[in-house]
Amino acid sequence: MDKVKQNKTFIPLGASNHVLSERSDHDFYATDPKAVRFLIENEKFNNNIWEPATGMGHIANEFIQSGFNVKMTDLFEYDVDGCDTGVDFLQCNEIFDGDIVTNPPYNKSTEFVEHALKLIPEGNKVVMFLKIQFLETTKRYEQIFKINPPKKIYVAVKRFACKKDGDFTKDLGSALCYCWFVWEKGFKGDPIIKWFNYDNNIENSLW
Ligand SMILES: C[S@@+](CC[C@H](N)C(=O)[O-])C[C@H]1O[C@@H](n2cnc3c(N)ncnc32)[C@H](O)[C@@H]1O
Repeated sequence: MDKVKQNKTFIPLGASNHVLSERSDHDFYATDPKAVRFLIENEKFNNNIWEPATGMGHIANEFIQSGFNVKMTDLFEYDVDGCDTGVDFLQCNEIFDGDIVTNPPYNKSTEFVEHALKLIPEGNKVVMFLKIQFLETTKRYEQIFKINPPKKIYVAVKRFACKKDGDFTKDLGSALCYCWFVWEKGFKGDPIIKWFNYDNNIENSLW
């Protein structure tokens, strides 16, 4: 796959002249590759990975560079080589023999987690980059946590930004705390919480 392409015109299905600022209409925010590299270094994965909301390829690209077979799909077109577009993950019903890793569209994150867990075999993983607030709400507790608790949650000590333009060359800080939520299908019990992205420079810290 080509390197992640930046500042490309975004072409959603059925339209052709959307501008960069409109990407967020489709809940596009890229994940910081640094967070992805941490995940790859600290979790064991199946050799087959499905990134079902690939966007500009920030997660997929890191897995490809680490030697995984990566299936890339997205509902919208971001001009990423090898990514099948027009694929609504929530309408996919085939079992995937591997692990599913993504940063889902925020307005469908609960549905993405629930659906991903249906599409993998027992013992395989669903890993999602989600705001820490994902832990809240009766709906999510009822629909996900009560039945399928995550096995591990990696909380970012120093916050990551998710970028609309996919450009991580400038660190502008972030108002949101993101975590990697790791589900291992079939796991029952209490999740382990770990911390990552620790930077001992207190000047960089919010508190
Ligand atoms: C928060 S962005 C994350 C992009 C990429 N996963 C990353 O981490 O850099 C969410 C992505 O979900 C895609 N998306 C929205 N609804 C979708 C759906 N129903 N099925 C598949 N992809 C969808 C958007 O086009 C966007 O690329």
